[in-house]
Amino acid sequence: MKPIQVGLLGIGTVGSGVFNVLQRNQEEIHRRAGRGIEIAMVADLDAERARSIVGDKARVVGDAREVIANPEIDIVVELIGGYGIAKQLVLEAVAAGKHVVTANKALLAVHGTEIFKAAAEKGVVVAYEAAVAGGIPIIKALREGLAANQIQWVAGIINGTTNFILSEMRDKGLDFDVVLKEAQRLGYAEADPTFDIEGVDAAHKATIMSAIAFGIPVQFDKAYVEGITKLAATDIRYAEQLGYRIKLLGITKRMDKGVELRVHPSLVPAKRLIANVEGAMNAVVVHGDAVGTTLYYGKGAGSEPTASAVIADLVDITRLIEADPTHRVPPLAFQSHTLREAGQDLPVLPMAEVVTSYYLRIRVADEAGVLARITGILAGGGISIDAVLQREADEVGGEGSTQTDLIILTHDTREGDMDAVLAQIQGLPTVLAPITRIRKEELN
Ligand code: HSE
Repeated sequence: MKPIQVGLLGIGTVGSGVFNVLQRNQEEIHRRAGRGIEIAMVADLDAERARSIVGDKARVVGDAREVIANPEIDIVVELIGGYGIAKQLVLEAVAAGKHVVTANKALLAVHGTEIFKAAAEKGVVVAYEAAVAGGIPIIKALREGLAANQIQWVAGIINGTTNFILSEMRDKGLDFDVVLKEAQRLGYAEADPTFDIEGVDAAHKATIMSAIAFGIPVQFDKAYVEGITKLAATDIRYAEQLGYRIKLLGITKRMDKGVELRVHPSLVPAKRLIANVEGAMNAVVVHGDAVGTTLYYGKGAGSEPTASAVIADLVDITRLIEADPTHRVPPLAFQSHTLREAGQDLPVLPMAEVVTSYYLRIRVADEAGVLARITGILAGGGISIDAVLQREADEVGGEGSTQTDLIILTHDTREGDMDAVLAQIQGLPTVLAPITRIRKEELN
């Protein structure tokens, strides 16, 4: 069957990510969506650059309206940004009966109500997972995963630029202006960073989350917006001494009298997970009456993280077009006829094939040559040592002890190889107790 035809409006950082990820993962995406998804047309003012990205895989045009007018196009992806031409194009795409995917938080926070109404009247979807917190599926979590709850509050670090600046100010004790220049040099902040540093970008995202959390219209004009430009390094230091970190939070809360919607620098207890979200990363905490507090963390910007969210929307819409309504989302994520048989080409590995690194604690006689013998056995089994720690015998077994603990961290190795080596080490007469093995996961 012909793949779903997608028209891209704008192929900058995010657009090229969408193109590349769709190419790279096309087989899995097809198996999930139930149909192929293909970028058939791209509209960009810089047609030459667009062609250098898509080659001959998609038709490149200079006029976005050519994409919208093409009856072959099923879904229009708007990646132009801003409230101007982007708004007109989204409304025109909707009027032409196209489904729309957009990453445009500014547009939705200000004109979302009008756009969603137009889409509902026309019977098309406007999907926007990428508009809030980039690659983190927070829209899906709020709208679907937490649907049982009365959401009580949402608080998020939803602007990577400002979180990077605050992290640097704290780490290096530098003032805002100095760090901003550095952030611009490194590409973490735009040449015109106003929307980020004044809190506007975060307020757009908080506005969208507020609407979803509480079932109210998007009301960006009611949001309180305060950025980080007036923050002094001194306050970050004093806050730290009192056990707090300063973060730019987007907050929305359900109160008796109404809904709070605000963005401003906030002191957060240093022990909270969200206080430890550093650099350009994003995180959102959602508190629901049934579920309690949940946390979502990840990259809030960047080419492929944002593309991840855009493509998730493309898959959702394709399933909507394609699937039997009772099985819109396949129970095991992939369309059932594309599931692999157990053991086929992607078996669950036996533990002996698992690759991980290890912490070993070996109780040994404190004698000459014991360590050399053990490391020799590890080397013989092809296992590389990352670190070794030997405790003083007195510390381990009390004064005059002749036993000690050897702590060894290894690099990655096959569990089967480790089993063989540990059996040999355990058999040494100088190893005095069962060896403790704990697997180590860096998760980086
Ligand atoms: N400028 C945003 C940020 C990314 O710094 O997080 C896109 O919303």
